[in-house]
Amino acid sequence: MASSSFQPIQGMSDLTTPEIYLWQMVESRSRDVFQRYGFSEIRTPIMEHTKVFVRSLGETTDVVSKEMYSLEDRGGRHLSLRPEGTAGVIRHVGGQGQEAAELRLYYMGPMFRAERPQAGRKRQFHQVGVESLGAPNPASDAECIALQHHLFNEWGLKNFSIRLNTRGLPEDRQAVADGLRAWLRPRLPELCEDCRRRFDLNVLRVLDCKQEACQVIVDQAPPVTEFMSEPARVYLDEVTRLLGKLSIAVTRDPKLVRGLDYYAHTVWEITHPALGAQDAMAGGGRYRVTLGNRVIEGVGFAAGLERVMTALEGEGITAQSLAPGPNVWLVSMGDRAFEENLELLQMLRRHGIACGMDMNGRSMKAQMRVAGKSGAPRVIIRGESELENGTFQLKDMQEGTQEDVTMPELMARLTPLRVQ
Ligand code: HAM
Repeated sequence: MASSSFQPIQGMSDLTTPEIYLWQMVESRSRDVFQRYGFSEIRTPIMEHTKVFVRSLGETTDVVSKEMYSLEDRGGRHLSLRPEGTAGVIRHVGGQGQEAAELRLYYMGPMFRAERPQAGRKRQFHQVGVESLGAPNPASDAECIALQHHLFNEWGLKNFSIRLNTRGLPEDRQAVADGLRAWLRPRLPELCEDCRRRFDLNVLRVLDCKQEACQVIVDQAPPVTEFMSEPARVYLDEVTRLLGKLSIAVTRDPKLVRGLDYYAHTVWEITHPALGAQDAMAGGGRYRVTLGNRVIEGVGFAAGLERVMTALEGEGITAQSLAPGPNVWLVSMGDRAFEENLELLQMLRRHGIACGMDMNGRSMKAQMRVAGKSGAPRVIIRGESELENGTFQLKDMQEGTQEDVTMPELMARLTPLRVQ
């Protein structure tokens, strides 16, 4: 069989040991932090009607226009794999009564974008995100950024930076687009082909073009806040002031746009130096989406876990250092000891002790080798004489010492080793 028969689809990966230990650490610490901030979990379907994403993210965004995995099912329905988590949450909240207007929800799971696979860009990637529903309020935005900052610290990250900007009020959009177009129009011939297209379709996106020629021009552009109304600027100043009060360092970046159309008011992005060209580890912002006669508002963020893993390793937090491993390994001399150990193994596990033993009837020497490889700090050795006396040889693998212990002594020594 060709080796490709064993490969996942390009841009998608199996996640297994050892790196899965990092993923599990991130997931369990996230749940703990979210609980402290009063957020509860939501698991929306991985596939939705395509319109769920189009109406929230915006038709002209790259994610919707180029990157969605869409299909028509047997019933002729237009469906898409979710490219992000916010649209599904908005759909959920839209279908609830008024009591859902201030829900605090978090999610974690796979997202799909048909991007060109490259370092830091996957076609199936994973996000941990939150959505705090409710009307605009600078304190909620600051709290959300503070939560994210706290979360990253709990994961063990220190060297990240937060860039902050505003998309202004929905009413400001036209003025911002007009102002930016007026400033860019004389420079249009110098912009890249994509930006010339963006100029008409979604002019703000010119600001975050990665082409050098475009960046040179954009660096001279006036900050978008200049085209916005006073309340939009006051709102951003208030978010910045509150973050200062919470001792959270942020850099204002007037060029930060974010690629999704639902944003209104605050937007932010978190970068990490261990990431290469795709240095955004997370992004978020305040949004507003109209669904029929309802307006759904909230603030939230999502972190891309593949990039978080790279950042963690960049800060020396490795999967290997988190590998749980057994507390104790059992070694048997002879068939009778093997069977007695099998029973002991089960009893220890029922007492919450992680343990293992070789099931293949190997020699004592080979069993000791397996015990060493397992990383267990202690080994229990039993042969005929231990069975006769009702005792156990307990070997400390670090010290190299060995002692003869009774059952109560054995349990007293092993129980404190129990993990979390
Ligand atoms: P986003 O900036 O599109 O925002 O994605 C958030 C994060 O997901 C990115 O910073 C990045 O770490 C990760 N990410 C995105 N695309 C890929 C990819 N192809 N491969 C690997 N990682 C990727 C959102 O998704 C918004 N829903 C965030 C939000 C929530 N805003 C408000 N609430």
